[in-house]
Amino acid sequence: MELPSAKCVDEYTAGDEEKTEYTVLNSPMNGQLQKQIKFRNDKTKSHQRYSCTKPGQKCSLIRQNVPRIRILSNKKSPSLSHVPCLVLQDSALNQLKWLGHKGLFGRFQLIYWDPPFFSGKERTAVNGSFKDQWSSLQEYVAFVKEHFVQFLPFLSPTGFFVLHCDYHASHYLKILGDELLGYDNFRNEVIWHYRGRRQKAIVRVNSKHDSLLIWAKSAEARMNPIFDSWDRDYYVRMKKQPVHADEDGREWIWGHKGKGQSKAYRIYLDEVIAQGRAIDNVWDIPIINTSAHERVGYPTQKPLKLMERVVLLLTQPGDWVLDTMAGSGTTGVAAWSLDRPVCLGDNNPEAVAIMLRRLKQLIT
Ligand SMILES: C[S@@+](CC[C@H](N)C(=O)[O-])C[C@H]1O[C@@H](n2cnc3c(N)ncnc32)[C@H](O)[C@@H]1O
Repeated sequence: MELPSAKCVDEYTAGDEEKTEYTVLNSPMNGQLQKQIKFRNDKTKSHQRYSCTKPGQKCSLIRQNVPRIRILSNKKSPSLSHVPCLVLQDSALNQLKWLGHKGLFGRFQLIYWDPPFFSGKERTAVNGSFKDQWSSLQEYVAFVKEHFVQFLPFLSPTGFFVLHCDYHASHYLKILGDELLGYDNFRNEVIWHYRGRRQKAIVRVNSKHDSLLIWAKSAEARMNPIFDSWDRDYYVRMKKQPVHADEDGREWIWGHKGKGQSKAYRIYLDEVIAQGRAIDNVWDIPIINTSAHERVGYPTQKPLKLMERVVLLLTQPGDWVLDTMAGSGTTGVAAWSLDRPVCLGDNNPEAVAIMLRRLKQLIT
């Protein structure tokens, strides 16, 4: 896909409506830029898409089933200047149709999906609201399945699909994902554990985790090892072994190599501390507290630290990331600032406004 490289451009088109309206911001749409924005496989005539030539000018044209599209690119931050960021405002299914029209099958290394959880709640917060209410579990699972199937052609042959859910339906979704991606391609259930107010257990104990179900598209998909930091005292306490020291004072303990080989090799403490501890599938990451700087007031906003870890674990710089129900855009903020091109979307205009604001903060 050819995208503008060093300009900040917003192109607005409309959603599932007959009349499309879009506004050009920040950058004069000169002839050269129009050419740069033209997508491969895009059959739309350029005059239909780019009849608007001045920043701030509002234009309209007739188009159907096209998401409202923003393309952000960056001239301020050198590391982001060649990393595209698309924001689509439409239903996830229409976004996928649009991506298909652009020929982006197999393009995304990471598809992260944080759909409604079947919580039965109407989610409201200072800046936005959405409904997570369903007539039945069957209706919810059918909704998930309909989308899941449509996502898969966009996943790269070595990519990962992450479905963020919780106890309300995670077991049904695991079975569904196994059917669609293959039981053997299931890699992890990551438990995102968080703290927060607890009530005494009478009916059930406090539920303080979400599940991130991770499937790979194929056996070839590889993660990037991530390490948590730890300190010497913690490590020594955990190993429960005497600490020895070389003549120069460098500390070590014996490493084991199976039965009968309890003194097989030396583990130097400075080396293991410097490397850190390989992460496991329980991630203790605080929820965003009420006074946190990153809080934007959107319901179900996920912590940036969580999304940074997902992105770092499953992608390399330059790999495309897709989130079609992106809410406040946390996936995009994490991925874009880590030099991953992103395509974000939501059908809620409030969400799109928030994610655009957050993304623009990265480049202004
Ligand atoms: C759980 S929230 C995502 C929160 C997000 N991960 C964040 O950090 O802010 C789910 C989002 O899905 C959106 N959504 C629900 N149904 C949708 C649909 N059919 N198409 C597009 N977006 C949808 C909602 O508007 C909501 O913003």
